[in-house]
Amino acid sequence: MSPSDLQILIDKNRDWAAQVVARDPQFFRNLSQQQRPAYLWIGCADSRIPATQVTGMAPGEIFVHRNVANVVVHTDLNCLSVIQYAVEVLRVKTIVVCGHYGCGGVHAALHDASHGLIDNWLRHIQDVAEKYREPLAAIEDRAARWDRLCELNVIEQVVNVCQTTVLQQAWRRGQEVSVHGCIYGVHDGLLRDLEVSISGAAEIMPRFRQAVALLETPSPLRSPTS
Ligand code: CO
Repeated sequence: MSPSDLQILIDKNRDWAAQVVARDPQFFRNLSQQQRPAYLWIGCADSRIPATQVTGMAPGEIFVHRNVANVVVHTDLNCLSVIQYAVEVLRVKTIVVCGHYGCGGVHAALHDASHGLIDNWLRHIQDVAEKYREPLAAIEDRAARWDRLCELNVIEQVVNVCQTTVLQQAWRRGQEVSVHGCIYGVHDGLLRDLEVSISGAAEIMPRFRQAVALLETPSPLRSPTS
């Protein structure tokens, strides 16, 4: 009899935990005392981009929120609660919004594909596509246009994080916390900095405009399919 799907997870967990303890006998005991992550990661739910693994970090080092297409919506209590807890309680120093090339959610939004309930969620990305309709339409290659919307979506979500009351209040009281945008290549396993790093309210719009303008500069690493 083949092991059940759940049993596969449990067996692999036992192996993993044993390996960790073999390397560091105190690892889980230390981690059970508290978590003190320096990072908050807001990424896509895509199974190919586990935050801790792709950054080579260990459990305890990254606080993670993931949803379809790494969207930060101002009324999403789930995402807002994660940001609030990360900033005010865990006092993370660095927030990374990480999108990825080949994002299915972005693709569905770009091509008006219908997948049921999720269409309502992806509507937020269609809003981004609508906002950049002209520059996107100017990109003839479909794959390159998809890449670009993946990039623009990250930059827009970075701005959304910065505009939450949590970040606004943190900066007002002088707390050091910065927000960044990265995009991951599922084809090569590499993260690219989209150069939209913001560490204060006054930086939001200048950095946002610079980052969007920078997308027009050709970069072989940044736009893999163009
Ligand atoms: Co995705």
